[in-house]
Amino acid sequence: MNMRFEQIWLALPFPAFVIDAQVNIAEINDAAEVFCMASKKQMRGKPLQEFAREGSAVVDAVAQAQGGMRSVVLHDVQVGWGGQARGVANVQATRLGEGEVLLMLHPRSIADKMDRSLSHRNAARSVAGMAAMLAHEIRNPLAGISGAAQLLSSTLGPEDRELTTVIEDEAKRIGDLVNRVEAFGDMGPGVVAAVNIHDILDRAKRAAAAGFAKHIRFSEVFDPSIPPTAGNADQLMQVLLNLLKNAAEAMRAGGAITLKTAFRPGVRLALPGKRSQSLPIEISIKDNGPGIAPAILDDVFEPFVSTKAGGTGLGLSLVSKIIADHGGIVDCKSDSNGTEFRLLLPVWKEETR
Ligand SMILES: Nc1ncnc2c1ncn2[C@@H]1O[C@H](COP(=O)(O)OP(=O)(O)OP(=O)(O)O)[C@@H](O)[C@H]1O
Ligand SMILES: [Mg+2]
Repeated sequence: MNMRFEQIWLALPFPAFVIDAQVNIAEINDAAEVFCMASKKQMRGKPLQEFAREGSAVVDAVAQAQGGMRSVVLHDVQVGWGGQARGVANVQATRLGEGEVLLMLHPRSIADKMDRSLSHRNAARSVAGMAAMLAHEIRNPLAGISGAAQLLSSTLGPEDRELTTVIEDEAKRIGDLVNRVEAFGDMGPGVVAAVNIHDILDRAKRAAAAGFAKHIRFSEVFDPSIPPTAGNADQLMQVLLNLLKNAAEAMRAGGAITLKTAFRPGVRLALPGKRSQSLPIEISIKDNGPGIAPAILDDVFEPFVSTKAGGTGLGLSLVSKIIADHGGIVDCKSDSNGTEFRLLLPVWKEETR
């Protein structure tokens, strides 16, 4: 390693190792020394298994990378080192050539920042637990409030009736909010079938163009060869509508939305163990609006994050939960020229059902 690369290597803020073809530890950076609580001298040249036991996520990831996958990422795995648990980390193994593998550990605090797209799923899940309870607790008193307001209004003059109308309207707004939060409660994708994504894109587009997106121009770049995805058409429709609605709300008349689909057989999501999920179906929804406010860009998928006066901030959180339930990934790119949401989904396979 030349001087400059050596300096960069040592300065990397997360633990990194070079593993050689015999699965020995060839190089260790400073952060790895701290993470492992062992010196470079103690570790260099030693078998990886001596520190991270056989069958651990770290050893799996290296084996997968050596076995042919160029880059393997395992999310949220328990990392043990030297016989002790060292917390939850994302593990990334990248093949360097000649059997060598670059192994990087992103402990959760760093990983959280680097990979919102996976960690925000948990936020959506914790909302799910609370949602059912809240919905139940709020609905009954709410029905009482609006019922009482209706009764009252029949005995009041026009001026006071305005107030009972406010009560009824606001009660209805709370009811709608409860319904939306409750949508998190129904776990899982429900009925899963082969879904033609172009059908639902078309349906979502037509619904949007007839309603909230009247002022928007649509264009489509569809790859007609895409096979069906495994999903729940209603939920996927809801995902698309939420994304289209956000885009339409971000733009004035003359704004444009591009719907794009592509088939990318190489895209895989590595899962803990020796498994990985193929996510070759890509749907992109891109607008040319002003972009997501930088202050919330990292948190857009979290529940209750909103910049809109009447917004619940649940739209994107629901998108992320539904896509996660489908085994897919959603990510987002945004700058002052526009915003793009990208969905990656699996292919429908008859024999796995
Ligand atoms: N296409 C987009 N362009 C610009 N900003 C966006 C876009 N999509 C989302 N946002 C920003 O992300 C925030 C969160 O979106 P989300 O759909 O979760 O909630 P919301 O739209 O505010 O509320 P609700 O969906 O309940 O109406 C929005 O308030 C907005 O600031
Ligand atoms: Mg929204």
